[in-house]
Amino acid sequence: MMTRRIANILKQGQPDETVSISGWVRTKRELKEFAFMEVNDGSSMAGLQVVLDPNIPNYEPVLKQLNTGTSVEVEGTLVPSPGKGQRIELKASSVTVYGESDPETYPLQKKRHSFEFLRTISHLRSRTNTLGAVMRVRNACSTAIHKFFQDKGFLWVHTPIITANDCEGAGELFTVTNLNLNELPKTDKQEIDFDRDFFGRRAYLTVSGQLQAEVMAMAFQNVYTFGPTFRAENSNTSRHLAEFWMVEPEMAFCDIVGDQNLAEEFLKYIFKYVTENCAEDLEFFNKRIDKSVLATADNIINNEFERITYTKAIDLLEKSDRKFEYPVEWGLDLQSEHERYLAEELFKKPVIVTDYPVEIKAFYMRLNDDNNTVAAMDVLAPKIGEIIGGSQREERLDVLEKRMKDLEIPPEELWWYLDLRRYGTVPHAGFGLGFERVVQFMTGMANIRDVIPFPRTPLSADF
Ligand code: 4AD
Ligand code: MG
Repeated sequence: MMTRRIANILKQGQPDETVSISGWVRTKRELKEFAFMEVNDGSSMAGLQVVLDPNIPNYEPVLKQLNTGTSVEVEGTLVPSPGKGQRIELKASSVTVYGESDPETYPLQKKRHSFEFLRTISHLRSRTNTLGAVMRVRNACSTAIHKFFQDKGFLWVHTPIITANDCEGAGELFTVTNLNLNELPKTDKQEIDFDRDFFGRRAYLTVSGQLQAEVMAMAFQNVYTFGPTFRAENSNTSRHLAEFWMVEPEMAFCDIVGDQNLAEEFLKYIFKYVTENCAEDLEFFNKRIDKSVLATADNIINNEFERITYTKAIDLLEKSDRKFEYPVEWGLDLQSEHERYLAEELFKKPVIVTDYPVEIKAFYMRLNDDNNTVAAMDVLAPKIGEIIGGSQREERLDVLEKRMKDLEIPPEELWWYLDLRRYGTVPHAGFGLGFERVVQFMTGMANIRDVIPFPRTPLSADF
């Protein structure tokens, strides 16, 4: 018999229905005449309460096996629950144990474990309430992302993971090679000879799918990529991963204002979708993790984001009486403390900062008429700081070539990118949303390592 998902039973199950469920035992309580256990199958935070009485086959021996973590299938009849806490429960007619779980050694005991500890058992931690809720919210977020773009007619394009380009120019690339590391081929100059590597050139894991998304936007107008990206930043913070997922829309015939409008509409949509589809999980986060989770969602959905220029942001930071660790000065990049001050304390909502100095931004951003700033935009969120980074792209061949020259980016490496400006160039814009940062923002989880199933960070790639 196909087993039914517990979330569905809790919502729609009716007394007298016979059902079969499968999952893992969370708790067991033995009374004199009978016993209770709670079974969870990951479909919802709440498990299903199962009543076991001596009429089920092998009652005594089965009962002994039903420890926390044991996998079971239960058949029985739904009955109204006399106890408080649940509408309906399952009166078992038979229990099949698939795999036992030794209570002496099973690491997930019925107590609160620290998130640090849970990271050391990432192969088991998704069975806990918090990580279970995170993964369901993560799933709903990605569904929302696809729904948002598909409903608008954006084409989902798959950009490569292996690439020869450093899109962001920050030098945070992981090299991909199959050279024998013990016997590296050398050139006459005693440098590693990547001509003899798999791709006949040096290749990397992508830091962003943007350049290829631009190619696709020049054929399909509106596209998005959604996939893993990799950065070898050695920053051990609660907001950085070495492998993270990024959503990158790219729109032809669009300017920086259209880009901001899309970013704002997009974030509102994701929040609305998740609050509607993961209500139980968000309530849990609001109660247990961060008391402002529901208010934050409400704030995002119902308020317009603030929009200011970088120059204005510097002005506001200089005027504030807050002491910052990093200097505030026109021309310097905003640090996370500055970003958080603006979003969290000053405006108390997301802030879109535009028109950053040309020197601190990537080569592809469109130069403004002042020759001093570029049409960039970052969306800063309370608690998180930068959640979206985007820009209008430089569509003018001569301006782009000059900028690349200034940055010593060899034009022959990006000949195909420059071709887009030679053949039917148009104003276009896009952005990248850090997927884990939005899940963090939504759940109130303090550490980004706890919103992805298997985090990759400096010195850590287990599981
Ligand atoms: O601001 P970034 O570097 O922008 C780009 O990569 C552009 N090419 C995107 C585009 O215009 N298509 O990164 C975009 C977002 C950041 O705002 C942040 O949310 C997230 O990606 N991000 C990270 N998230 C987790 N760990 C890291 N190490 C991250 N680095 C960036
Ligand atoms: Mg950025």
